[in-house]
Amino acid sequence: MDKLVIEGGVKLKGEVVISGSKNAVLPILAATLLTDEPCVIKNVPNLRDTNTMLKILRSLGKNVEFNKGIVTVSSTRHTSFIADYKLVSTMRASFCVLGPILAKLKKAKVSLPGGCIIGVRPVDLHLKGIKSLGADITIESGYVHAKASQLKGSQVYLGGVYGSSVLATDNVMMAATLAKGETIIESAACEPEVADLAEFLIKMGAKIKGHGTPIIEIEGVRQLHGAEHSIIPDRIEAGTLMVASLITKGDITIKNVFYQHLGAVVDKLEEAGASISKTDSSLRVRLKRKLKAINVTTLPYPGFPTDMQAQIMSLMSITPGISVITEKIYPDRFMHVAELNRMGAHIQREGPHAIVEGVKQLSGAPVMASDLRASASLVLAGLVARGRTSVSRIYHLERGYENMEKKLQVLGAKIWREKE
Ligand code: EPZ
Repeated sequence: MDKLVIEGGVKLKGEVVISGSKNAVLPILAATLLTDEPCVIKNVPNLRDTNTMLKILRSLGKNVEFNKGIVTVSSTRHTSFIADYKLVSTMRASFCVLGPILAKLKKAKVSLPGGCIIGVRPVDLHLKGIKSLGADITIESGYVHAKASQLKGSQVYLGGVYGSSVLATDNVMMAATLAKGETIIESAACEPEVADLAEFLIKMGAKIKGHGTPIIEIEGVRQLHGAEHSIIPDRIEAGTLMVASLITKGDITIKNVFYQHLGAVVDKLEEAGASISKTDSSLRVRLKRKLKAINVTTLPYPGFPTDMQAQIMSLMSITPGISVITEKIYPDRFMHVAELNRMGAHIQREGPHAIVEGVKQLSGAPVMASDLRASASLVLAGLVARGRTSVSRIYHLERGYENMEKKLQVLGAKIWREKE
């Protein structure tokens, strides 16, 4: 296994281009299961998670090619309705193949995804939505068995204890495209990645309205055809690099971002003291004044994204004053707290809150990544810590960030890879 080593203290400067969105490309790749015709997906980031989803498509009988950011998916004669435990358990997002397989093949056997370090990760809302479309669902030896000779449109409320569900909305929306009649999803997730999936489905011939809002209407059609689509930029990678500029007191221009997807992040970083200037699809990010402690609560989109919680915690760990960070989506998503404290941060967890007392200086240390966004927060802390930080188990980082160390090197960071 590899680790990343970082010599802290460099102010990052220059330009960086954001890759395609991980959380958009995964359900869009799953959506190619809804047609036998070829699909071409562009601006695909080369990530562990992307390659896991491509393996799953191959296991389901698709021909898949991936080079220079373009994925071509076409059908072979062999099709399977079984998404097996080995692959699904490595990546929760793969559960969103359930809807497309069931809609296309009238039956599906998909392994229940394991939980992961950020929480239990239930799928009750997925199953509620698929059942509402008339599927018979049984759970046996860790697999969901679903069958339906003809899915029927329905009205279903998908709000859960923690708000809407991104992948449950994706699963039900994809299944509903081939159901008979109209489906209305209430309390649908509004994330830009859900809207990007809907745009792809519409290019395939689906009839969808209201995507990006809490009420999505889908008029079922008989079949979908192949399509071409370019993935939206990754707003979480953009937010992570915005924090990299601020935490190192640098001056970074981030290219290929959709400003409109970053409202809550821009708002909070400006409140903390950032100057963020926008020119067409680029953002220039630097400090306007000394950093100021802020309070952050994560919420479903358009609220502050939970996927940026660990990163803003790193920034607040070196910001004078007391910041309170409240995690409303995954109350256990605080694995990064102990590792940041090993670097000299003063962070105290109180249930779904983290109380961050800013310190003057973090000190480099060997730390361990536990999940994707925690690993990003440790890299950010290493960029500003005095001395050397080594972040082990960086396969977590590689799940969701394309060439992160190369992007940071180009911005001047002293960061390199070593064997553990
Ligand atoms: C998506 O996960 C993202 N992953 C996550 O990003 C992101 O953190 C999350 O949405 C919230 O924004 C992908 O898109 C691949 P949820 P998802 O279903 O869809 C509860 C990253 O770092 N819930 O929106 O799996 C759940 O426990 C990853 O890129 C139920 O109760 O998340 C959570 O508390 C991490 N029942 C809340 O809803 C269900 O059936 C939101 O989860 C489903 C979810």
